[in-house]
Amino acid sequence: MLRRTAVGVVVLWCLAFWSSAAWAGAHADMDHAGPGDKGTGILLVTFGTSIPEAQAAFTHMEKKVKTAFPDVPVRWAYTSSIIRRKLAKEGGDLDSPEVALAKMMDEGFSRVAVQSLHMIPGAEFHDLQVNAGAFMEMSDGFQKLRVGYPALSTSKDLSKAVDAVIGILPKERKRDEAVVLMGHGTHHPANVYYEAMMYRLQRKDRNLYMGTVEGIPSLDEIKAMLLERGVKKAYLVPFMSVAGDHAINDMAGDEPDSWKSVLTEAGIECVVVMKGLAEYDAFADIWVDHLKVIMAHMN
Ligand code: CO
Repeated sequence: MLRRTAVGVVVLWCLAFWSSAAWAGAHADMDHAGPGDKGTGILLVTFGTSIPEAQAAFTHMEKKVKTAFPDVPVRWAYTSSIIRRKLAKEGGDLDSPEVALAKMMDEGFSRVAVQSLHMIPGAEFHDLQVNAGAFMEMSDGFQKLRVGYPALSTSKDLSKAVDAVIGILPKERKRDEAVVLMGHGTHHPANVYYEAMMYRLQRKDRNLYMGTVEGIPSLDEIKAMLLERGVKKAYLVPFMSVAGDHAINDMAGDEPDSWKSVLTEAGIECVVVMKGLAEYDAFADIWVDHLKVIMAHMN
């Protein structure tokens, strides 16, 4: 609800901006490559995290992006209004994608590559596409704006994701020990990506499992499979860009309903891996590759 209100305010602001620009006859100037043109900028958009330790994933991501595009300014935006408000109370200052884009427009960027750092093209990604697209409708707006896909979009992405996951498995893990990935999961139709990941992982190694906190496959389904296959030990790995609140509490917490507690209770020894996917080069590269695709359209 709060989020809708925030978007509403920005939309109203945009409309006000739009009508005043039209009134001033700004339509005539469609070429933005003037003296004030800051050229191309990158906007990285993530759900966000309020856990300071989890920031390591974003720091790594920014390093990767700056290595790929050394001369392009990079900005950040968080799609989660809850996290933005929480950080604001602690003195942090993070923008929504809409505010970040308005600022970039104001600063004089003419081309913006908006890269989603989400895992799947779910609700957050679709909102981003719609609202970023609205900036192209404005008079005197950006010349070019593209939104890059989240980690999992094409079939090739799934292959890269599976390979990246296999590359990060703890060295000491034996074949009869399970690796259970914890994804977020969603009511959005894009939840099928987690089911697709499960299929791909199982084809590679039958002891790799994809579970979700809020979608399908559920922890109950995974637990049943582990017990059926007589698994005695499982590595729990967040399938999220950062090892934030969900990883710390839902996956590894001491509450009786955490994944660690539920599986331990079922007689499966659990080893927790507390690292976000954006901290690993191979996984971060999936997002960087998507950014490269949209950056190729910026000139
Ligand atoms: Co959540």
